[in-house]
Amino acid sequence: MVWHKEVAVPAAMTMAPADPEPVHVIAVTGGKGGVGKTSICANVGIALSRRGHEVMLLDADLGLANVEVLLGLRSERNLSHVLKGDASLEEIIIRGPAGMRIVPGASGIARMANLSVAEQAGLVQAFSEILGPVDYFLIDTAAGISTDVINFNRAAQEVVVVVCDEPASITDAYALIKVLSRDQGVERFHIVANMVASEQEGRELYNKMWAVTDRFLDVVLRYLGAIPNDEYVRRAVRKQQAVTEAFPRSPSAVGFSRLAAAIEGWPRPQVVSGHLEFFMERLVHARPDESL
Ligand SMILES: Nc1ncnc2c1ncn2[C@@H]1O[C@H](COP(=O)(O)OP(=O)(O)OP(=O)(O)O)[C@@H](O)[C@H]1O
Ligand SMILES: [Mg+2]
Repeated sequence: MVWHKEVAVPAAMTMAPADPEPVHVIAVTGGKGGVGKTSICANVGIALSRRGHEVMLLDADLGLANVEVLLGLRSERNLSHVLKGDASLEEIIIRGPAGMRIVPGASGIARMANLSVAEQAGLVQAFSEILGPVDYFLIDTAAGISTDVINFNRAAQEVVVVVCDEPASITDAYALIKVLSRDQGVERFHIVANMVASEQEGRELYNKMWAVTDRFLDVVLRYLGAIPNDEYVRRAVRKQQAVTEAFPRSPSAVGFSRLAAAIEGWPRPQVVSGHLEFFMERLVHARPDESL
């Protein structure tokens, strides 16, 4: 795709890059902690990059095992510096494996929901100035159903819900889907079954999720795929590398590539709101549910 920097844009899209193909904004979430959100986000991102796409990953997880740590990268600055006006977005972005761009958000965006109006505007502006096209914008969300997690999911175009075959994971994933569908109007969810013993177990886990959501909620639940429980994931963590990089032929790496191929098959959003600054607008102008 050619990047036309000089093309004039309509006034309504002020600052919008003239990228003819809108970015696909995908939130990776799950409700429960430790189900593999960060691992999936990082490895699918790398797999998509390897397949020739421009990928940007927003680290919206404040936990200790964040994307940078997982990939053995170090960021001196993060989104808080952009918000304070001390750095541009381009300056804080770090390059990960296969050229994937990572926006370090950890600790800098402790409370996205509480940004001042000036900070909100600054954030939208910053994302309007990103250089070059972005095909996929992946968001690694934190565990739980805090206002920030809800807002990231609500503002994304697609929500990937990571589930493990254990009651707490199924219950938490269901609670998250319920809140997002009932209170935020999110209708479509993609299920990834992580740490499964077999392909069949992944399907069965999806069927369980489908049965309970179909009965009580008005949502479309799709099966994106499964990642096996794979010792190589843990070995890669110890090496501070992504498993897709360190052990590309391992069972989980094959699974991540399959997920990337499935995501590649999704239809592109044909709307102007597919630009990153519009995502940021949706994000910062969310009306958080006070009861959360
Ligand atoms: N498919 C897998 N096979 C084996 N181990 C896995 C797999 N997926 C994730 N893990 C391991 O599970 C642990 C938790 O993974 P990860 O940090 O990706 O989860 P998370 O959902 O992002 O957690 P948090 O809620 O803390 O952000 C890590 O030690 C990771 O190596
Ligand atoms: Mg995580």
